Amino acid sequence: MKAPIRVMTVFGTRPEAIKMAPIILRMNQNLDKFKPITVLTGQHREMLDQVMDIFKIKADYNMNIMKSQQTLSSITTSVISKLDKIIDETKPDVILVHGDTTTTFAASITAFYHKVPLGHVEAGLRTWDKYSPYPEEINRQLTDVLSDMYFAPTKLSKSNLLKENHDIKNIYVTGNTAIDALNQTVSDNYKHSVLKNIGDNHKIILLTMHRRENQGEPMHRTFKAIKEELNKHNDIEIVYPVHLSPAVQKVAHEEFDDVSRVHLIEPLDVLDFHNIAARSYFIMTDSGGVQEEAPSLGKPVLVLREDTERPEGVTAGTLKLVGTNPDKIKNNMDLLLDDKDFYNKMATANNPYGDGKASEYILRAILNRFS
Ligand code: UD1
Ligand code: UDP
Repeated sequence: MKAPIRVMTVFGTRPEAIKMAPIILRMNQNLDKFKPITVLTGQHREMLDQVMDIFKIKADYNMNIMKSQQTLSSITTSVISKLDKIIDETKPDVILVHGDTTTTFAASITAFYHKVPLGHVEAGLRTWDKYSPYPEEINRQLTDVLSDMYFAPTKLSKSNLLKENHDIKNIYVTGNTAIDALNQTVSDNYKHSVLKNIGDNHKIILLTMHRRENQGEPMHRTFKAIKEELNKHNDIEIVYPVHLSPAVQKVAHEEFDDVSRVHLIEPLDVLDFHNIAARSYFIMTDSGGVQEEAPSLGKPVLVLREDTERPEGVTAGTLKLVGTNPDKIKNNMDLLLDDKDFYNKMATANNPYGDGKASEYILRAILNRFS
């Protein structure tokens, strides 16, 4: 019998963990074929632990690199130096990274230095704009330069990779593992303390905002616009689980502390977030992952960004790009709240991100290549 394929996953932030978890859980069910080696960079701490706890995944290594207000260079150098030793020690057959964070890029370049084949989960997303999102667009482009296997969530991401002359035989259209994760979290029988504090017949608007290019003034003007809408519509309530980044905490508390019908709460674990998203009227976010989940949940999303690497959701009709322009934000909130046809069109779009079996397709491709 052949030895199981040694598959190292390296990740460090909340969204990477959520979307890598389905792959690790599936490997755990197939230990005759795969030897999972789970490596955390610890770029995030509390927000990463939340995901590991919910999915009951144990890490083999945790580099624990997080520092308050860390810089991109410090994340990169810490990951490279620590991952070096772990690769030497564990000798993986293949390394999997996810998405576009600095953990993703740093792990990818380290895999290359060790000449270990690299698989990129969620490959091929592009805005083609160097500084938007920053630094994610360049992280994912560089990761794709270094990768040997591309797990593209959609045909569009595959076509982006082909435009960059990546070999078609290495590209697999799998759907997004976010949908695999979503299938494990949303349930009918769900309770949360924040839901108890929402007024009768009030509509929940779920808000998240954290991107580096939005920190500071863009966040201030976005939150001011939302406050104007709260004054105009007395049946809406904002639920805002605030990212732990000090830059985000500062603006969120400056603008929203003591504003009635705004619930500033700690980051939710993914089970809570998905269930509260499923109970919201609509979502406002600059998050990448939330843009992928919303179509499956049938929730309109006002995207607080000028552009997106997830145009599939815009084409499907679920996402509308409003950026951080106050008039655009207020007009579109009014449309969703007052125009039933406008709302229904956005709420009934099809999910473009696959059938929830992305992790199965990814592991099948790895098995075919390495066994
Ligand atoms: C990172 C990713 C971004 C991703 C986001 C997901 C990079 C450059 N950015 O951005 O692509 O969208 O994660 O959330 O890779 N912090 C804590 N506890 C935590 C997590 C963060 O205290 O569990 C604080 C720390 O002070 C940290 C700061 O947040 O220094 C910023 O974290 P960092 O990972 O650098 O950036 P994010 O904005 O989280
Ligand atoms: N999410 C979560 N708790 C929260 C906010 C978001 O679990 O309080 C989940 C969300 O469902 C999605 C992922 O985190 O799966 C998105 O992560 P984030 O917005 O931090 O990063 P991005 O996707 O923008 O890189």
